[in-house]
Amino acid sequence: MSGFVVWFTGLPCAGKSTLAGRLGQALRECGVGAEVLDGDEVRGTLTRDLGFSREDRDENIRRIAWVAKVLARNGTVAITAAISPYRAARDQARREIGRFVEVYVKCPVETCMQRDVKGLYARALRGELPCFTGVSDPYEEPVHPEVTVETDRQTPDESLETILTYLERAGWLRSGAVAVHLPAYVVAHLRRAWGDGPLESQIVEVLLRHVTVADDPVGAEEREAIIGRLRGLGYLE
Ligand SMILES: Nc1ncnc2c1ncn2[C@@H]1O[C@H](COP(=O)(O)OP(=O)(O)O)[C@@H](O)[C@H]1O
Ligand SMILES: [Mg+2]
Repeated sequence: MSGFVVWFTGLPCAGKSTLAGRLGQALRECGVGAEVLDGDEVRGTLTRDLGFSREDRDENIRRIAWVAKVLARNGTVAITAAISPYRAARDQARREIGRFVEVYVKCPVETCMQRDVKGLYARALRGELPCFTGVSDPYEEPVHPEVTVETDRQTPDESLETILTYLERAGWLRSGAVAVHLPAYVVAHLRRAWGDGPLESQIVEVLLRHVTVADDPVGAEEREAIIGRLRGLGYLE
């Protein structure tokens, strides 16, 4: 599979790290190589020398974009989770990378302040942090992001589903979300048994039937919903 970059952007505490981690895990679980470049981790290593002036923030994004691009051209899905507050820097990353999906993690600043996962909003509001995005530094919203998730209205599961559905529908994950290489003799056997129809969708049907009558059966209604969704995504005829 060809790699690409999923670029998360949003205010502090909007949910970038949470969703980037969840997306990475979900992709790896279905056999897609994924690597998360989290802003905090990057700032502790690759961009340790940088501060929070506009110039330094832009340089932070340039370096993250470069690493993400290298990962992507090696077939990995590179997931970045940095505030990336300036539109021009994000657009530059998009141009530089090409295979680029921008995810706007949208959340009102009031909700972010309530979450205050690391206590930084409190410090910024006390005037202790002169360049804190959302309080004492600007955040420029994306104009045409490929995906927007509103984390004040969705659970992390729902936001993840929104992102995965986009990636599947837009064709980023289509050929390789689940790569199973069957031995030639198994394919030949299935061809004899099933004829010339599309093997993949028949295999998915059989697996579904198997899964849905196993120890933990999903109800008939849920089974129909799953089949409908797979059909909508083009996995089933
Ligand atoms: N839909 C959602 N998506 C992501 N995070 C959410 C969502 N709803 C609530 N949260 C919570 O918001 C917080 C976001 O923190 P974090 O992911 O560290 O933000 P960021 O990396 O953007 O600073 C977490 O505590 C997370 O559980
Ligand atoms: Mg984070």
